[in-house]
Amino acid sequence: MNTGFKDRLYCGELSVHDEDSDVFLSGWVDSVRDLGGIIFIRLRDVSGIIQVVSDSSQSKDVYNQASALKSEFTITVRGTVRKRDSAAINPDMKTGDIEVVAHDIHVYHESLVPPFPIDSRDPVGEDIRLRYRYLDLRRRDMQDAIIKRHRIMQATRTYLAKNRFLEIETPVLNKSTPEGARDYLVPSRINTGEFYALPQSPQLFKQILMISGFDRYFQIVKCFRDEDLRNDRQPEFTQIDMEMSFVTRDMVMEAIEGLLKEMVRAVTGNDDIGSFPRLTYDEAMLLYGRDAPDTRFDLHIRDCTDIFKQSSFKIFRQAVDSGGVVRAFSVADKGNFSRKVMDSYAESVKPYGAKGLPFCKFNNGAFESGIAKFIGVDEQKKLIERLDLKEPSLIVFASDSEKTVSSSLGFLRVKIAEDCGLIDDDKLNFLWVTDFPLFEYDDDEKRFYSMHHPFTSPLPEHKDMIRGLKPEDARIVKAQAYDVVLNGVEIGGGSIRIDDTGLQKDVFTLLGISEEEASVKFSFLVEALQYGAPPHGGIALGLDRILMILLKKDSIRDVIAFPKTARGQCLMSGAPSPVSDEQLKELSIRVVKQ
Ligand code: AMO
Repeated sequence: MNTGFKDRLYCGELSVHDEDSDVFLSGWVDSVRDLGGIIFIRLRDVSGIIQVVSDSSQSKDVYNQASALKSEFTITVRGTVRKRDSAAINPDMKTGDIEVVAHDIHVYHESLVPPFPIDSRDPVGEDIRLRYRYLDLRRRDMQDAIIKRHRIMQATRTYLAKNRFLEIETPVLNKSTPEGARDYLVPSRINTGEFYALPQSPQLFKQILMISGFDRYFQIVKCFRDEDLRNDRQPEFTQIDMEMSFVTRDMVMEAIEGLLKEMVRAVTGNDDIGSFPRLTYDEAMLLYGRDAPDTRFDLHIRDCTDIFKQSSFKIFRQAVDSGGVVRAFSVADKGNFSRKVMDSYAESVKPYGAKGLPFCKFNNGAFESGIAKFIGVDEQKKLIERLDLKEPSLIVFASDSEKTVSSSLGFLRVKIAEDCGLIDDDKLNFLWVTDFPLFEYDDDEKRFYSMHHPFTSPLPEHKDMIRGLKPEDARIVKAQAYDVVLNGVEIGGGSIRIDDTGLQKDVFTLLGISEEEASVKFSFLVEALQYGAPPHGGIALGLDRILMILLKKDSIRDVIAFPKTARGQCLMSGAPSPVSDEQLKELSIRVVKQ
């Protein structure tokens, strides 16, 4: 039997077809059961588990070897595959109808007792999992996630290479790209006092590659952003970054839909991922209160501002009179919206700026409880029609500025859907959100910001509005930007870029980026644009987020081999850590303790 590099056998891949074969298997002892005279060892490797048996009546020596084994020892076993007796078949195990009768067992290394069970069915606190990540990664769930991650990357490379994309690496030590988050800085030893920035994305370099003629680029690339962490955000994460020349928005979208289909197939084995509906940003904000809507359930938000223009309910009236909006959605009332529950919902929308949560119920043809007594007969009729009210239902309202109303109702529709079990966990709802505003205006700082990044092109018909744009018109100018959303999570974003130096300069001017600043930060792009730039556009997908959703995990930490905690630490290696005075001196850096 050949046990060389190519022919190594794996525990989880043996089957009844291997009956009577002699095999060499290597891996970890998952568990040992000594039944007195006969010992069962569950042997585990990356492919799965097989049962190894040692019977004292057959070989005393092997039995003695087996009885010395403990969980997590690394061993190699030589033995023969045999079918199990029908009574001993384990239908819950892939290899449950066979076992290996051991002829020899060799222990490479013993193991300390692990601080938690390697069986992933036992819940273990995340901190201890991250502290002992090398053991956590032995657990089935994590191995499965990492294997699927590999598959998704392979599928990406195959699909993109087939479609003429070239995989090109871009530098990690960079000047900062203005993507909105804080940079991670790396001091330069030989250029005293100067710093590199780790890339927030390869944005500028991929545009340069287009100008250089590599008309389809991709990279599976680590990006770094020093921002507040959440369950779907890591300080270093992986993008599937792409750029294409001579394309329209629709062509980029078509390429991505094909890629996502391959990715889903690589992970779930199923490529029936449905259609990709398109919503404009304005539609998404109105209907779902968010630019990354979860469409697995309805609870559509409807604008009711016109209905309440003359409202006798002071709060609605005030909102309308001061230029705000009144919006609402309804949900079937199965008796689960007690006063206490409604109070907790009112509390939950406070962080979004909502001062309260007006609500009422619709039952037996009548409006009742909450603010029902303030809703006139005519308003009731219009509400029944606008919200397409069924009985019995709960109606929740928000009245305030458009921003506050959208964010609070956007949050609440998801919360209520979760609480009422309205979300089908097995659904994969992809969609595109298009026509984002190009700019946002910050009233406090009195300046414009790019909603995506400063290289995003406006819609062709909005180009001329940029010069002299007034703050109050900021949101009118729409961008050729698009986000792809899966189950309410933004999994990718991109745009058609500005390929005209004049327009790029106008955008910088509006953003308050002086010619000097532009030339310090990205003069090379502005300069390169003057040497025959092709029309181009692209997108970056968040690999970690896609995998998190496809594997139904609550956090991207569960699909990354070595993630950071919410405080940006690696509990296993201890990064970040202080460095020696010597190192600091070499870099001419002095640490000022706060
Ligand atoms: P954007 O900033 O939208 O676009 O990023 C693209 C995608 O990357 C993922 N993502 C993250 N995932 C995990 N942790 C994070 N901290 C994190 N930040 C972003 C998201 C997001 O949709 N250069 C542009 C792309 C382009 O225009 O082509 C960019 O980086 O899934």
